[in-house]
Amino acid sequence: MFDPSVAKKAVLTMPSGEDVKYTAYENIFYVTNIKDSVYQTLNIYVPEILNRGDSTPVFLRTYIGGYMATTAKSPSASDATGRALKEGYVVCIPGSRGANSTITRDGKTIYTGIAPNGLLDLKAAIRYLRYNDNLIPGSAERIIIDGTSAGGAMSALVGTTGDRPEYDDFLRKMGAAQTSDKVFASVCYCPIADLNHADMEYEWLYGCTNTGVRHLDADQITISDELAAECPAYINSLNLKDDAGNTITADNYKDYLKTFLIASAHKALEEGCEIPDTIGIIRYADRPDFGGRPMRTANGDVERRMRVPEGDGRGAPSFGPAGMRPRFSNNTDYVTGIDLDLYLNYVASVTPLKTPPAFDQYGVLLDTPTPENSVFGDEEGTPANFTDFSLRHRLRDNDATLGEDMARRVFVMNPMNFISEGAPSVAPHWFIRHGAKDRDTSFLVPVNLATKLKNSGFDVNFFLPWNRPHSGDYNLDDLFGWIDRISR
Ligand code: DHB
Repeated sequence: MFDPSVAKKAVLTMPSGEDVKYTAYENIFYVTNIKDSVYQTLNIYVPEILNRGDSTPVFLRTYIGGYMATTAKSPSASDATGRALKEGYVVCIPGSRGANSTITRDGKTIYTGIAPNGLLDLKAAIRYLRYNDNLIPGSAERIIIDGTSAGGAMSALVGTTGDRPEYDDFLRKMGAAQTSDKVFASVCYCPIADLNHADMEYEWLYGCTNTGVRHLDADQITISDELAAECPAYINSLNLKDDAGNTITADNYKDYLKTFLIASAHKALEEGCEIPDTIGIIRYADRPDFGGRPMRTANGDVERRMRVPEGDGRGAPSFGPAGMRPRFSNNTDYVTGIDLDLYLNYVASVTPLKTPPAFDQYGVLLDTPTPENSVFGDEEGTPANFTDFSLRHRLRDNDATLGEDMARRVFVMNPMNFISEGAPSVAPHWFIRHGAKDRDTSFLVPVNLATKLKNSGFDVNFFLPWNRPHSGDYNLDDLFGWIDRISR
């Protein structure tokens, strides 16, 4: 039970100099069967002035990164937690186990955070908040989870799997509160999700760089090509639809992806960003054939008043923030298209790409495990494959398949498996961001997640912010404007 008397008063000084007064409740165990006392705790921070009284949302930030463990933390003036507190939201920052958390039992090292334990910890923390909702200020019916990268994937998982029976037995054994773990909203920055398809999605997209900027050797190209060849069937199996209801297939997928990148570049231009001519963004100036004609205005300036071209640039999906659909103003060149291969080569030149397989790498061409191989490993710390593709390569056995237990662990760690029309396990509101030059995973991962959610009837705010590398908790005005709107 939550004990409101164990509190301390504190002040957070924001970058503006403003002081935010709050009450802290810290080091609270959220399960009764504690496996790892370093990580299975949460902290709660209650601002002096609550945004919406009893119905104030709880902003739950996970600091999971790299699928590693994280301790419960206190709010930081320089990220979304400080901003949330300043805006009057209750803030919860749970710890959780991960790929690197260990305990020693009978002289043996035991890895406590193998998948799906980190996710289970977040669910248990949410159940704790709901179980104690009458004692904790704010409303556990309005939990907004926020995470970046592996934490973004966890946010997507929490947001898609509320009260799903697949997790019940685990949660019961952990001594998690017997209540709901649904959330109200999920904020996902660059989610490293869909892990068991991420390798094929990476190679299918970035294959155009293999012999150029990526400098792959012959063995790597073979792996890249094999993986890429598996992707079209996966894309087609998703049966995604664009805004107009057209089916997205592997054949037209790249045109669909382009609409998001075009919208991103266009917004950047409108905001005054310079975009080099060499990276594949095609603007009016590059495409005089569209029939627009620069006109002299009264003061002698050139005004580009355009007919809206067919095709590229118009089809930007409508589910971004205001302004995401290109607004063809007079004072900016507008983006008419994108040379995707050129743009992807540019992305790969900014930050070298991962080598194939990008995620399930262990034992294919290299023996080194990725963080993903470690989190799917066993309690002794031995890494494991989580795709048939890499397992077959490592074992040199074309018939090898993941065992039943591993297949189940992989299943419960993929948010895509839990999204369907009106699914009660899915949070109603979604805010998804992935930088337009973030190469940590393929653009297909966030695009598919956002599209599947949108197609299933959920409220999705999705954008690929221009010139943004792998990062999170940026453009906080944008995020907190959205949070304000969904909480009204
Ligand atoms: C993270 C980044 C990665 O590239 C990855 O594969 C897994 C996690 C991260 O930043 O959390």
